[in-house]
Amino acid sequence: MAVDRPQRFGFRAAVNAISVAAMVNLIALAASAVGAPGLLSNDTPVSTPSIFVPTSTPAFAIRDLSYFVLGICAVIFIVVGGVLTYCVIRFRRRPGDEGREPPQVYGSNQIELAWTAVPVLIVVILFLITARYIFGIERLQPPSGLQATVVGHQWWWEIRYPDLGIITANELHVPVSNPADPTPIFLTLQSADVIHSFWVPQLAGKMDVIPNKTNRVWIDPQTPGLYVGQCAEYCGLQHAGMLLRVIVHPKEEFAQWVAAQQAAAIDDPGVRGGRELFQSVACINCHSVRGTLANGIFGPDLTHLMSRATLAAGVAKNTPDNLRAWIDNPDTLKPGARMPAMQLSRRDLDQLVAYLLTLR
Ligand code: CUA
Repeated sequence: MAVDRPQRFGFRAAVNAISVAAMVNLIALAASAVGAPGLLSNDTPVSTPSIFVPTSTPAFAIRDLSYFVLGICAVIFIVVGGVLTYCVIRFRRRPGDEGREPPQVYGSNQIELAWTAVPVLIVVILFLITARYIFGIERLQPPSGLQATVVGHQWWWEIRYPDLGIITANELHVPVSNPADPTPIFLTLQSADVIHSFWVPQLAGKMDVIPNKTNRVWIDPQTPGLYVGQCAEYCGLQHAGMLLRVIVHPKEEFAQWVAAQQAAAIDDPGVRGGRELFQSVACINCHSVRGTLANGIFGPDLTHLMSRATLAAGVAKNTPDNLRAWIDNPDTLKPGARMPAMQLSRRDLDQLVAYLLTLR
């Protein structure tokens, strides 16, 4: 019978579409709950970057919205799965059914309308609620609060505090915010090359970092600790190696960090040779060390290099061995990195590393 085809197709398509949508949502949420494995091997404790363990107002909103969407998907899944299971059992083939066709039902306007209108309604509700959350988060604009500029580069993050005169890289330090008296931090996002995306799941949603466009995001982290993030927009070979760490300090500790970062670079007389060497090779074309000839801007500011826990945007721990390997040939730690291999003699390399190790 040809006439029953549209009817059967409509039902199956609806069931399939709803189940697939529910499954995709469940899988996506499960994946984000599991989070990425600790990217710094061995003993470095790294919090799981899960959207379900928020600690900042925008991230709380995203968690609540996720639970709401997950709840709706769960109801759809249970209803559709339940009806499906009921039908499979109730109308299964029984002895004596051979050669007999079941009653063919088709052409019900009510049913067609219902399974068109209900999904449309659900999508509209999800859209309106999501829009409400987005506008709610974006409404807060910076009258006061700490300002920082985060610039995406292939493949690292430049971090500037214009009001504090601090420039650093890959590790964003901020003070904790008391929920009763919030002190939000406003981040201005810019790109030096291609499109990146700033994402620290426990602090805020993703925000694209676009060349020639300034985007903004704000956070008010309420628990001190280390929160890891990741560039969330494919930006080239080392996109996955473009990690970000946010260190949330108690207020006094943050003031100490600021004072240490504002201080001039340490000029240790014991490593003058290394310092001279540093200023005589290509390092200074890309890197800055305040108080020296080095004022390059293409690479990270090294004034307080050793205050950072990681190298190369979080792909390696900032240890003397890793630093040496990195300068000798960055590709060993991060294939495709934009920093050239310096090809220094062993002796020069030793001197250079000894100098950089003093830049606390
Ligand atoms: Cu930067 Cu992906």
